[in-house]
Amino acid sequence: MKADLILKNIGQLLTMDGSEGVRKGEAMKEVGLIEDAVVVVKDEKIIFAGEANEAPTVDASEVIDCNGKLVTPGLVDPHTHLVFGGSREHELALKQQGVPYLEILKQGGGILSTVQATREADEEALYEKASFHLERMLSYGITTMEAKSGYGLDADTELKQLRVIKRLNETKEADIVSTYLGAHAIPNEYKGRSKEFLDEMLNLMETVKEQNLAKFVDIFCETGVFTVEESREYLTKAREMGFDVKIHADEIDPLGGTEMACEVGAVSADHLVGASEEGIRKLGETDTIAVLLPGTTFYLNKNEFAKAREMIESNAAVALATDFNPGSSPTENLQLIMNLAALKLRMTPEEIWNGITVNAAYAIGCGDQAGKVVEGRKADLVIWDAPNYLYVPYHYGVNHVRTVIKSGKTLFE
Ligand code: NIG
Ligand code: FE
Repeated sequence: MKADLILKNIGQLLTMDGSEGVRKGEAMKEVGLIEDAVVVVKDEKIIFAGEANEAPTVDASEVIDCNGKLVTPGLVDPHTHLVFGGSREHELALKQQGVPYLEILKQGGGILSTVQATREADEEALYEKASFHLERMLSYGITTMEAKSGYGLDADTELKQLRVIKRLNETKEADIVSTYLGAHAIPNEYKGRSKEFLDEMLNLMETVKEQNLAKFVDIFCETGVFTVEESREYLTKAREMGFDVKIHADEIDPLGGTEMACEVGAVSADHLVGASEEGIRKLGETDTIAVLLPGTTFYLNKNEFAKAREMIESNAAVALATDFNPGSSPTENLQLIMNLAALKLRMTPEEIWNGITVNAAYAIGCGDQAGKVVEGRKADLVIWDAPNYLYVPYHYGVNHVRTVIKSGKTLFE
C-alpha cells in the first residue's frame, strides 16, 4: 500500500478515541492510549492509527521515527483574541500597585486602550502581527483555534478584524474558527448608553452574517460591561440570526452568566471563576461546555480559580484555552495552561488532554474534524519530546513539541 507519511516507533499514542460526542464528567477519563503504535497518513488524512503489530505494510514517501516518544492529536485552543493592535506592558506596573482589571477598564485603559490601537492599525499590519502570534501557537502544537474580534467596537474595525481572521484561516496552516465579539466593552463614545451600543452591534451582526465572517457570537457579561439580562437578549437575537453563541461569564464578579448561558443554549460558557452552585449544576445538565482559562486567573493575580473539580463531578464538559490577548492573558502557550490546570484546577492528566482536544474541538463546533487520531480524520498530529502523556502537564514553562503535522504536512522539524 502507498502512503505519504508513516510515524513509527511511537511509545505512547493518545488517539483520544472512545465515547462519541463531547465528554462530560467521567467520560473525560478516556484518552484512547495505545503503546508501541504506528500512524499512517495518506492524502492529508489518517488511514491507520493503532498497534505496530497490526499496522499494514506500507510504502511511504516520508518516515518519521518517533524514538519511543509521545504522539497526540494537534491541540485545539477554543478561546483566543488573536487579532489586535499594540500591547499593554505599561499595565503591569498598575497591576503591581493593586489597581484592579475592571478599574483600569473604567478609566479608559485595558480593553479600550487595545481598541484604540486596533482602530489605528491598518489591515495589513494586523495581519502581520496576528501571523506572528499564530506561528508561535502552531509551534506550541496548536493546529486548530478560535479567534475573536472585539477590539473594534465600531463597524469598520470589527469587520477589519474579522477579515484578518478569515485571511489567516485561508493562508496559514492552522484552522481558525471566527467569533464576532462586538459586545466586548462599551466604547468611550457610548459611555452610559449600553443599550444604544448593543443595538449598534446587533445591526453590525447582520452584516457579519451576510458576509459570512463569523460562526459564533460572544459577549462580555461583567460588572461595568454588559448585564446578564442584556447578554441574554443579545445572545438570543444572535441565535435567531443563525449564529452559535458563547459568553465571557462570571470571570471576575459572580453575576450568574453561567446559568444564563445554559438557558440560552450557548455552545460554551467561558471563564466561570465565579460560577454559582446552580450554574455548575446547570452545566452538568446541559450541553454547554465550560471553557476554563486558568492562565487568565493566574495573570489577573487571583487566588481563587474556577471550580473545575466540582464541575466535572457534576457531569459538566470542561475544555481549556489560552484566552490569548494583550491584557489578561498574554501567552500563546497552551502547555503552560495544562500545567496550571493540573495545579490550580486539580484536573487529572486525562481530563486535561480531553480539555485541549475533544472538548475544545466541540466548544468551537469542530468536534467531528479535530481532536482525535482516528481513521478518516485530518492528519493533525504532534510529536512530543516527552516520554508519556503525564509528562507534559508536569514539566512546566518550556515547549515540549518536537514536530507538528498539519493536514499531513510536517512543520517545525
Ligand atoms: O477574556 N474579559 C474580557 N476579555 C478578555 C480580556 C481582553 C483584554 O483585556 O484585552 C478576557 O479576559
Ligand atoms: Fe477572552
